[in-house]
Amino acid sequence: MSTETTPEAGRCPLNFDPYDHAIQDDPYPVYARMREEAPLYHNEEHDFWVMSRYADIHKAWRTDDVYSNRMGVTLDASAWNENAHVVMSFLGMDPPEQTRLRKLVSRGFTPKRVAEMEPRIAAISLEHLEQALAQGEAEGGFDWIVDFAGKYPMDVISELLGVPQADRDEVRRLADLLVVREHGLRDVPQAGMDASMQMFGYFADLLAARKKAPADDLVTALLMAEDEGDRMNDGELTAFLFLMVVAGNETTTKLLGNAVRNLCTVPDQRAAVFADATLIAPWIEETLRYEASSQLLARQTLQDVTIAGTTCPAGAQLLINIGSANHDHTVFSNAEEFDIRRDKAELAKHIAFGGGRHFCLGANLARLEAQIALRQLVERCSSIEVADAPVRMYSSNVRGYASLPVRTTLR
Ligand code: HEM
Repeated sequence: MSTETTPEAGRCPLNFDPYDHAIQDDPYPVYARMREEAPLYHNEEHDFWVMSRYADIHKAWRTDDVYSNRMGVTLDASAWNENAHVVMSFLGMDPPEQTRLRKLVSRGFTPKRVAEMEPRIAAISLEHLEQALAQGEAEGGFDWIVDFAGKYPMDVISELLGVPQADRDEVRRLADLLVVREHGLRDVPQAGMDASMQMFGYFADLLAARKKAPADDLVTALLMAEDEGDRMNDGELTAFLFLMVVAGNETTTKLLGNAVRNLCTVPDQRAAVFADATLIAPWIEETLRYEASSQLLARQTLQDVTIAGTTCPAGAQLLINIGSANHDHTVFSNAEEFDIRRDKAELAKHIAFGGGRHFCLGANLARLEAQIALRQLVERCSSIEVADAPVRMYSSNVRGYASLPVRTTLR
C-alpha cells in the first residue's frame, strides 16, 4: 500500500526529497507534515521511505533484526552498497560483526582516554580561537566556521589518533574535501572520492609507523586492543580510523556553527549565556535538539514495517528522521522554538546522537569539545553577533553552515 499524500484543502501534495535545497533551507514544516500526514512516508520517484515520529524511531532502535546498517547509512548512490563497512567500519555492520568490532575499539577509545585529553583539547581550541579573535580585531570580524569551527574538531581527532603535528594541516585539507557537496549531484563528488583514497593511504602509513614505534595515542592502543585473543586486522583498523573522521569531524563543526547561529537569534538567551557559563551545557543540548547535525540515518529493512496502516516492504531504503523526532510536539513543548531554558528532563530526550546499538561512540568527546570551545568564547568575549548572511552547507543528511560571519566584543 502506498503512502497517502493526497492534498488537504489548500495544501500542496506532500513531497520530501532531502537533496532539495529549498527543503534544506527549512525542513521543519515538511517534517511536521510527515509526522502528521504520513508517519511512514514513501518518495515514489526515488523509492525511499522516511520514519518521522519520535515514538516510532524509539521503538525501531529497540527492535532487533529489522533495521540493517549493512548498506551504509546515507542515501548517496555510491555509498549505498554491501561494502559500506570497508569505509565506515562497524557503522556499516549489524551484529555480531558490529558487536565484535565496537567492543574491540571500546578497549582503546575509552571515556578515560577522552577525559585525559581535556587539557590538550583546550590548548587546540584556544590556539584557533585566539587567532580568529585577533583576526576579528584587525578586520572587524571573522568567520566562525572557516576560521574556527571548521578547523578545531579535525585537529582534536588528529591529536586523539596521534597524527603528528606536521601532518595535521594536510589531514585537515583532505577531511575538508570529504564534506564538499555539489549542487544537483545526488552523490559524493569526485574530489571527495580522491580525498578518501588519500586519507586511507595516510592511515595505512600511520598504522605501519606505530607498529614499528608505538606511542601514547589511540592508534597504538587500537593496535594492542585484544578481546579473548581476538584483534583487529589492518583493514579493520584503517576503516575505523576513517570512520572517526567521517563521524566526528563535520558533525562537531556543524554543532558549533548551529550553536552560535541559533543563540544569536534570541538576544535575551545570548545575554544570559554570556553572563552565566553554567548555561553553556543546556545551550549545547538545545542546539543538538533543535538542529541535529546528522538529520537522517539510512537503514535497509529486513522485514516489512507497518506504521499507521502503511507498509514499507523488506529490502527497502528507509530514513530515520532524527531532525523531525527532535521537533515532535508529543515529546517537546514549543518544539519549534529554540529555548536553552527548556525543562532538563525534556531536553535529555533529544536523539541527536542516535540510539540503540549504533549510539554515537563519540558523544562524550563531542560534548567535551563543544563545552571547552564555547566556554572559552564566553570567557574571552562579552558577546557575539552574526555580522552577515550565513551560508548553508547543502547536504542530504548533515545540517549546518559552510560560512558564518561574526563580530565579537572582547571582555
Ligand atoms: C555533534 C557531534 C556528533 C553528532 C551529532 C553525532 C551523531 C552520531 C549519530 C546520530 C550516530 C548514529 C549513526 C547511525 O545510527 O547510523 C553516530 C555514530 C557514531 N559516531 Fe557520532 N556524532 C558526533 C560526534 C562524534 C565524534 C566526535 C566521534 C568520534 C571522534 C563520533 C564517532 C561516532 C562513531 C564511531 C559512530 C558509530 C557507532 C556505531 O556504529 O556503533 N561521533 N554519531
